[in-house]
Amino acid sequence: MSRRPDARGAQRGDDQPAGASRARTHVCAVDALEVGRVREVDLGRDALGRPRSALVLRPAVDAPVVAYLNRCQHLPIPLGPSSDSLLAPGGQHLVCATHGATYRVDDGHCIFGPCEGAHLAPLEVTVEAGEVYLAVPAGE
Ligand code: FES
Repeated sequence: MSRRPDARGAQRGDDQPAGASRARTHVCAVDALEVGRVREVDLGRDALGRPRSALVLRPAVDAPVVAYLNRCQHLPIPLGPSSDSLLAPGGQHLVCATHGATYRVDDGHCIFGPCEGAHLAPLEVTVEAGEVYLAVPAGE
């Protein structure tokens, strides 16, 4: 299933069932998100009890904030042990440390690797009064 950013730059999980609950999680001030850095946000545990987190970043100074569930589309594991090492040189791709799946930061599309063509699961981002929030589906 393809999921892409909407026109406002916010991310929506189109396969989210209608009425499914979402938690709102505060990330940080938008100015605290440095271009070229990935902020990992702890989201607790998924429905199977596995730790889960979000990867939040600004692809460019004037680009909207994007966020993805930190789970590779090849195997259901985090992209890597540390968010500091996930960005490829140039800052436009997230690379899974396990088998090298390479995802565009602006839309989560995998352009290379064992899950080429898949998308990281996007999380809806809102910015209010200079603060970044995520809408996190329950249990995903
Ligand atoms: S687990 Fe990410 S590429 Fe294989």
